[in-house]
Amino acid sequence: MTSHQSVPIAHLSDHVGREVTLRGWLYNKRSSGKLHFLEVRDGSGMVQAVVFKGDVPTELFAAADHIQQETSLEVSGIVKEHGKIKGQYELQVKNLKVIAAPVREYPISPKEHGTDFLMDNRHLWLRSKRQVAIMRVRHAIIKAVRDYFDSHEFTLIDAPIFTPSACEGTSTLFETDYHGQPAYLAQSGQLYMEAAAAALGKVYCFGPTFRAEKSKTRRHLAEFWMVEPEVAFLDLEGDMNLAEDFLSYVVARVLETRQTEFKILERDTKNLERVTPPFPRITYDEAIQILQDNGHPEAKVGDDFGGDEETVISSKFDRPVIVHRYRASLKAFYFAHDKAVPDLALNMDILAPEGYGEIVGGGQREDDLERLESALAAQKLPKEAFEWYLDLRRYGSFPHAGFGLGIERTVAWLCGLSHVRETIPFPRMLHRLTP
Ligand code: 4AD
Ligand code: MG
Repeated sequence: MTSHQSVPIAHLSDHVGREVTLRGWLYNKRSSGKLHFLEVRDGSGMVQAVVFKGDVPTELFAAADHIQQETSLEVSGIVKEHGKIKGQYELQVKNLKVIAAPVREYPISPKEHGTDFLMDNRHLWLRSKRQVAIMRVRHAIIKAVRDYFDSHEFTLIDAPIFTPSACEGTSTLFETDYHGQPAYLAQSGQLYMEAAAAALGKVYCFGPTFRAEKSKTRRHLAEFWMVEPEVAFLDLEGDMNLAEDFLSYVVARVLETRQTEFKILERDTKNLERVTPPFPRITYDEAIQILQDNGHPEAKVGDDFGGDEETVISSKFDRPVIVHRYRASLKAFYFAHDKAVPDLALNMDILAPEGYGEIVGGGQREDDLERLESALAAQKLPKEAFEWYLDLRRYGSFPHAGFGLGIERTVAWLCGLSHVRETIPFPRMLHRLTP
């Protein structure tokens, strides 16, 4: 680094009328006679640097005409308030130095590109205005998630990634070799959070989770980030209350801090402002009824919901809807059953509005040793791998509940994106492992 300081573009408002130096990359350029307008980005923001022929040496003015997109550069000039747009600033350029010119033309031009091309160039695509805005919203979501739990007396507990067993069914396990024995990449940290809840009461984990999803949809990634709270002595009712309070907090915080990004994304946030408790709650059976009444006469109790069904159900509500008490046979082995109707799992899913589908899944856990053993057997899961988990029911079993929120689906919903591939810096999908 050179010794003298450069100013981040986001801080230019503190320097109006003064000469500053900034470092960044050329995003776009246009010229008209005696002026070059250089759009420069530095990660913190974007500024128009105006090179006026009368202000700079002749060679510099000529050279500025040949700077290519994505050249890294250092620009010095006087900070001016933008003539027309309030809160925007310009740089009246005095000096300009190229740090590194691209070795060839930058592959991503402002024209439209196909999705495959952009995904192949994801490492460069990330520099675009839209992608930067999405990453900032993603960060704001993650920060709000952490702030919520940290300020509600939850302890962060990190779950392992290498695991000996399946949490969410054996069909989506990524198997790997662990010193000669098979291991699986974690589908969820939940089982470990249940152990931790017995130690610390209120806990959460936040990390990457893995599913070998064989289907190509706009909602599924092979690697996604999930936050999973788990609370001792909480029942399904309390779990739904926690989830709706948490989700409302996250949405409100992101709305508060990311208006600039929502504008760039052309996201109408009116619907998001309605995300406040209480969320409507319907049973699984009521959800089936909604489907039957709305163009899915074939829907019947016992069916699982795909993306299309979730869209139909959620379209009946103006905010996220909680669907609870699915048929136990549709759900993972670990759910407690409703005492009144043992066929029903004490689970809940939250469906996001506007067709974004299931963003939260969770519920109350089975705390009875024998019933849990039968559930493992019924789903043909190897008991040995779950001995440690069964110990939680052997030594001071306790009612408890929790849930998982998928970060990428939340980003897609809040940003209004049609596909999860843009919600994570480097998506891993059925046919994509690079870059
Ligand atoms: O409903 P899921 O499978 O629930 C669990 O994993 C529980 N063990 C969580 C818990 O109770 N602690 O997944 C939870 C959420 C989904 O609602 C969805 O938002 C997200 O994780 N998710 C995915 N996101 C992207 N790609 C995938 N393949 C996803 N699978 C689940
Ligand atoms: Mg689910």
